[in-house]
Amino acid sequence: MNTQSYHKRRAEIAHYFDHTATEAWSRLTSNSPVSHIRRTVRAGRDTMRAILLERMGTDLSGLRVLDAGCGTGALSVEAARRGAEVLAIDISPKLIALAQERAPATFNGGSIEFRVGDMLDASLGSFDHVVAMDSLIHYRTDDAVAALAGLARNCRASIQFTFAPSTPMLELMHAVGRWFPRGNRAPAIVPVRETALAASIAREPMLAAWSQGRSQHVKSGFYQSQAYEIVKR
Ligand SMILES: C[S@@+](CC[C@H](N)C(=O)[O-])C[C@H]1O[C@@H](n2cnc3c(N)ncnc32)[C@H](O)[C@@H]1O
Repeated sequence: MNTQSYHKRRAEIAHYFDHTATEAWSRLTSNSPVSHIRRTVRAGRDTMRAILLERMGTDLSGLRVLDAGCGTGALSVEAARRGAEVLAIDISPKLIALAQERAPATFNGGSIEFRVGDMLDASLGSFDHVVAMDSLIHYRTDDAVAALAGLARNCRASIQFTFAPSTPMLELMHAVGRWFPRGNRAPAIVPVRETALAASIAREPMLAAWSQGRSQHVKSGFYQSQAYEIVKR
């Protein structure tokens, strides 16, 4: 992946998660008390995590999983508990430090290696499953699809990921956000139309050996996300 827009957006995301939002993100992904709105987001994200894990299987013994954009590592921990050998990578050093601090010392069979870096780094090795929960939602759709193509190069079975489904409210927020200076605001979430995403995946030559799999909507208060998957034929 070499596009300017991907690198620019990745830098904004890194700054946001490593500086502006580290504390808020740490709280949201813990059991600490949060506002009602954030409780709904937390509940939606718990549901989403369970769906993505379920799709990979209850027994992941002997399988390698890339948690691409692992944040504070909740999904990595669950995958390792199911026996997976997990590589948990994130561009935010602070979130990786937090994830390491929170992870249990041992798992029954599984393991986690934490790493600071880009999920598309070609040196990460190969994986049975890649999971990108809410970590592609800030990228333009063409960049997200190019990222999927990059991830697919080193993946044997499935890529589980989420996107923010287009709704009138999200489209409006996205349009309005473009008229204001960015400053320390959260990087915009890009609304995605599922048909456009599917067409874009179908057009990507590097995904020619992949089929589109299940798609499931999760809505909980302010959290709206779509669990999507592509599977190797
Ligand atoms: C909304 S958070 C989700 C974190 C985690 N997947 C979860 O669901 O709790 C998005 C994460 O993706 C990471 N991220 C975004 N782009 C990335 C990239 N190109 N490589 C690695 N991590 C990335 C961010 O730093 C951030 O921690």
